Amino acid sequence: MESIRDLKKFWKKKRVFITGHTGFKGSWLCMILNHLGSKIIGYSLRPEKNSLFNKSKILKNLSSNHFSDINNIIKLKKALKKAKPEIIFHLAAQPLVIESYKKPLETFSTNMIGTVNLLESIKEIKSIKSVVIITTDKVYKINKKNIEYNELNQLGGFDPYSTSKVGAEIIVNSYIKSFFNKTNLKYKISTARAGNVIGGGDFSKNRLVPDIINAINNNKKLIIRNPNQIRPWQHVLDPLMGYMRLAEKQYKGKIKDSNNCWNFGPDKKSFKKVIDIVNYIKKINKFNYNVKVSKYYKETEVLKLNSTKAKKVLGWSSKLSIRDTLNKTIEWNNLEKKGNSVRKICEDQFIANLKMK
Ligand SMILES: NC(=O)c1ccc[n+]([C@@H]2O[C@H](COP(=O)([O-])OP(=O)(O)OC[C@H]3O[C@@H](n4cnc5c(N)ncnc54)[C@H](O)[C@@H]3O)[C@@H](O)[C@H]2O)c1
Repeated sequence: MESIRDLKKFWKKKRVFITGHTGFKGSWLCMILNHLGSKIIGYSLRPEKNSLFNKSKILKNLSSNHFSDINNIIKLKKALKKAKPEIIFHLAAQPLVIESYKKPLETFSTNMIGTVNLLESIKEIKSIKSVVIITTDKVYKINKKNIEYNELNQLGGFDPYSTSKVGAEIIVNSYIKSFFNKTNLKYKISTARAGNVIGGGDFSKNRLVPDIINAINNNKKLIIRNPNQIRPWQHVLDPLMGYMRLAEKQYKGKIKDSNNCWNFGPDKKSFKKVIDIVNYIKKINKFNYNVKVSKYYKETEVLKLNSTKAKKVLGWSSKLSIRDTLNKTIEWNNLEKKGNSVRKICEDQFIANLKMK
């Protein structure tokens, strides 16, 4: 079990550059790292008005903040040069499948060229000791139903979002082999693939749990697109702790693996159908739903991740069961509705998670 003391020992005063810091995962990561005493430099587009970023008031705790586009390499280079970070988490992306069908050009540009821009920029920065680039579980080529994908399985997405993230994976690999192989960053850049992440403060449209919370809070009817699709659901704290563990091990030079990608999926029991999630939450909070299968937006039927590598090499494992995950998310929503401080709710959930075995 990792204690807050151990985490602080490493993360205190570390200069951490986070792209996508205004998003759902980025805001949680900022709050955790701020709690641990890191110096955070953020680079993202402006947050939505009612975002977790704004609600948590984390902006005032950042060492430096840039509301800029990852497609703008000049601004990105300038921000990185000034920041002199030791660790980078790259989360900035257009992360939604349906949005990617509507805006393929923007999705490919941000998710692929944005990643090129980051890798190109870090060539010139000597302070960097660890880089974690976030992709997704959707990068795997779907071949047989019910297999659990591990890091050796073939890549291949079909919708624009998944494909853009496959592109990001290949770009990272190319940069490592072409430019970083003979530098001290050789084993210090990697990609991280997590599952369908759930947690308090995600207000994105067309994601199942945020849509359910919206239906509960605003007494609206939920529309489900794909009731029988299976996903590896997990609480946001689990993959974030994985990304941090990976960043720390790379920083300390403990990784010597040229297959520089890592799965951070949930426990097998969390591979559940969309409808199971809907029915579980329905038992706790009332809401109505309709099923409306989309002919236009095709999504992967079954997605299961195998995270044995992260377990063995990093000593990481997901702590929260699907029930814990959903309960924590509903608890977060209820506490926020009662007017509790969003920052405190997140920090309390982070500390409680650390205490779990
Ligand atoms: N949430 C999930 O279930 C999930 C699952 C697997 C992978 N991911 C990946 O995790 C990362 C974070 O996802 P999230 O759920 O926090 O998404 P989010 O939409 O909440 O946040 C996205 C972040 O990227 C930034 N961004 C988008 N376009 C940008 C641009 N052109 N320039 C600069 N910044 C830009 C946004 O400002 C925001 O800070 C993404 O890379 C996503 O693909 C998410």
